[in-house]
Order: sequence, then C-alpha cells, then structure tokens
Amino acid sequence: MARAVVVYRSHSGVTRRYGEQIAAFLAGQGIAAQVVSVGECDMSTLASADYLLLGCWTSGLFVVRQHPDEPWLAFVRDMPALGTAAAPGPKIALFTTYKLRTGSQFGRMRAALAGKTAAPQLELKSRNGRLSPTDEKALARFLV
Ligand SMILES: Cc1cc2nc3c(=O)[nH]c(=O)nc-3n(C[C@H](O)[C@H](O)[C@H](O)COP(=O)(O)O)c2cc1C
Repeated sequence: MARAVVVYRSHSGVTRRYGEQIAAFLAGQGIAAQVVSVGECDMSTLASADYLLLGCWTSGLFVVRQHPDEPWLAFVRDMPALGTAAAPGPKIALFTTYKLRTGSQFGRMRAALAGKTAAPQLELKSRNGRLSPTDEKALARFLV
C-alpha cells in the first residue's frame, strides 16, 4: 500500500483542516495517509514515504511579501535530504491557505526545499481550507 505523509504548519487552524481534507481524499484513493503538524512530525518516516505533502499558511503584507512562517522554515531546515540518485525520495506537493493573495509563498517554499527534496509537482491553495473538486482532480493526477 502506498504511503503519504501530510505535514502542515497552521496558525489558526485553516491549514490544518486543509491538510486533514487532503489526507482524507488520499485515504479514499487507497493510500495510507498520515497527517501531522510540523511539531509532531517524525522526520525518520519521511524518506520512505511515496508522497510528501507540505503545507503552510500564507503570511505577508496581504498583497506582497508572502512567505512561509519561521516554524515551517525551521522544520525544513531540520529535515534530512530525502532521496538519492539511486533511490528517489517521495513525490512532493505543496499546499497553502490564504485570504487575498499567495504571491511569493510557493516560490519561497520551493526555495527552502531546494536540494532537500525532489522538485514539487503540485501546488494547492485554498481560502477556506476546504478541498475543492478542482483540488481533488489535481491530487488524483499527482498520484499517477
Ligand atoms: C500576520 C498575518 C499575515 C497574513 N498575510 C497574508 C498575506 O500576505 N496574504 C494573504 O492572502 N493572506 C494573509 N493572511 C491570512 C492567512 O494566510 C489566512 O487566514 C490563512 O488561512 C491562515 O491559516 P491558518 O488558520 O492555518 O493559520 C495573513 C494572516 C496573518 C495573521
């Protein structure tokens, strides 16, 4: 059975809910999906996962300078490099929640992950933390 880990950083709960809905969708696709906050994540479980979905709420000045917050960045700094040339690590997706504009959020998340994981193949974003039908289609394509 394929295994997915959904790791989120949430300030007030919306990104946690989005991560939980992502994990529930993955479970419905027959994947063993675990959802944990950055603080709860056991780093040793990541390299052997088939899919790793990393989420962080959007912080910034609402129209400019969006970025993942320090606890998410610290999590990525502490994370071991996942995968080698011989054994590629998990397939990576990013997700965020926001109110107005995600701007540079995904770019900053990708920059933090560079050299640690494979390039992310999916970016999902939500204003309300609910998985939309469009998100579900994108996730289903990501799994293939
Ligand atoms: C300090 C602060 C900065 C924020 N900056 C942005 C922003 O730049 N762009 C945006 O669209 N939303 C911004 N938001 C809204 C949050 O990204 C949004 O409410 C998000 O869903 C919160 O997720 P959480 O409940 O998981 O913490 C900001 C919220 C806070 C508290």
